[in-house]
Amino acid sequence: MCGIVGYVGDQQAAPVLLDGLARLEYRGYDSAGVAVFGDQGLEVAKAKGRLQVLSDLIDGGRAIHGNVGIGHTRWATHGAPSDVNSHPHMSRSGRIAVVHNGIIENYAELKAFLMGEGVEFASETDTEVVAHLIEYFYKKDNGDLLSAVNRVLHRLEGAYALGILSADDPDQLIAVRKDSPLILGVGQGENFLASDVTAILRYTREVIYLEDGEMALLTPQGVRCFDHLMRPIEKALCHVDWEIDAAEKGGYEHFMFKEIMEQPDAIRRTVSPRIKDGRVHFEDFGLSDQDIREMSRMYIVACGSSYHVGMVGKYNLERMLRRPVEVSLASEFRYMDPIVDEKTLVVVISQSGETLDTMAALREAKRLGAKVLSIVNVMGSSIARESDVVLYTWAGPEISVATTKAYSTQLAVLDLLGLYFAQRLGTLPEEEYQAILDSLLHLPEQIEQVLEQREQIQYLASQFFNHSSVFFIGRNCDYALGLEGSLKLKEISYIHSEAYASGELKHGTISLIEEGTLVIALATYAKLFDKAVSNVVEVRTRGAEVLALTTEDHRADMEGIGAAGVVTVPHSHPVVLPSLGVVPLQLFAYYVALMRGCDIDKPRNLAKSVTVE
Ligand code: G6P
Repeated sequence: MCGIVGYVGDQQAAPVLLDGLARLEYRGYDSAGVAVFGDQGLEVAKAKGRLQVLSDLIDGGRAIHGNVGIGHTRWATHGAPSDVNSHPHMSRSGRIAVVHNGIIENYAELKAFLMGEGVEFASETDTEVVAHLIEYFYKKDNGDLLSAVNRVLHRLEGAYALGILSADDPDQLIAVRKDSPLILGVGQGENFLASDVTAILRYTREVIYLEDGEMALLTPQGVRCFDHLMRPIEKALCHVDWEIDAAEKGGYEHFMFKEIMEQPDAIRRTVSPRIKDGRVHFEDFGLSDQDIREMSRMYIVACGSSYHVGMVGKYNLERMLRRPVEVSLASEFRYMDPIVDEKTLVVVISQSGETLDTMAALREAKRLGAKVLSIVNVMGSSIARESDVVLYTWAGPEISVATTKAYSTQLAVLDLLGLYFAQRLGTLPEEEYQAILDSLLHLPEQIEQVLEQREQIQYLASQFFNHSSVFFIGRNCDYALGLEGSLKLKEISYIHSEAYASGELKHGTISLIEEGTLVIALATYAKLFDKAVSNVVEVRTRGAEVLALTTEDHRADMEGIGAAGVVTVPHSHPVVLPSLGVVPLQLFAYYVALMRGCDIDKPRNLAKSVTVE
């Protein structure tokens, strides 16, 4: 979703802004713009379409001179993608420029007020009201920009991260945030603001995380932060240790493929340090053994693929803990009046740690008295900071919109959590505990074996890439896996695809099966393999072409009933099998999208981090 970069220092700002915006492209956007102050005053360039269009317009940044500026990639909400609706937005005098992520919910009311004051609007955006309103108070406050911004903040409803530049105070930038991510990068004689650390990693690794309601004033010499009453506050400087090349393609054609291939290492990094003397060990775990024993109910709350991790997690955790685990979409949880009290544990899963619905669900859970444990990839993200306990997935930066390594590491952490709780609750026999732990430790090398089958998967993709509709079927964890396989395929290849619990086929979906329909049958769970065979036979009888995913020992059975292709995963504990099974599904989606010529890393209409409702 929208991206923000700001720069103040001694370099030419425009190339730095373009570079930062390029690193935010992965978040999804439809237009881009920059505003830079220099010897020509405040110059603005904006363009609909890819960042390259903007870059060409300003000759890679060389056409605009100046050492302070703000940039933005926009993902349209209010007003269609267009040059004029792109950010930065200017105040009426053209002396104040604003970039904004989030949504100003009361913009209509503010706009009516400003129009009453004679302000004319250029765009259809909610953001433009902010630029005009700052100018309105700036005049009233006799040219004190910071206090004008502060007065505006007290009138805005909704979510926002803002970067503000004024031609009257051209040696500074102002940053503010509420419910939308914004960090400050601290350099030597230069400072940055950004919605995402990857935008500034090339320039500095020292960052400050702004909290809701806080403001910052950045000059080349330093950063000063203020609370919502404009009282100066001290903020901690945090060091980001992500490698810069982790956010580069490193010779791969697509980030998605690179990230698929990185999964063994990512899981190793996530799992190994948490196993000591044959036991799962979490450092500084904020739940006591008593908290765990008193836990009466558990929710897993997330969006998108993270929710699908929760679906697998439900099967796995209930199996290990014999406690009810409910999985809820974060967008539903916040409005469903959930049954939550102090004995409830709410596990929140989020790669970015910034998904707005997930964040809102977290706050609702806390309001109701629950303890919140989050599984998050991005250090210092909002969800991580507001949780009682955080377990990080050490997957490194994930750039491709379609998640792969974040999904896998989230799943591994959830399995570790299951083992950790099971030991305290005494719900798993020792051999079972060790078998799961052992399978988790072997997971990276087994994923490497699955990745070796990529040519076969590519071949299967070449046989089926032109299908227009696909069904994924499976039972138990294989059903949960199907949900993710189906999402992967549809989000990057634009093929209509759905996942069904196999037992539901006869309740409607089977009427859609006709000659040539592609069905992907997931049958890794040995206990239910015979049921899977029956479902394959059922759909084959009605003319479906079937691709099957199963374990090596069942390959011949699947071939025997006429599957057009069989992909296998090595034998593992059933709890860990979905972590293996997801890999061929990611590869299949990737190759299908490749053959269809899709924009794999940046699928249409999608955003990596959904920071609006
Ligand atoms: C977007 C991404 C998905 C992700 C979902 C939830 O839709 O494209 O890959 O699963 O958001 O994001 P989160 O960062 O909360 O895991």
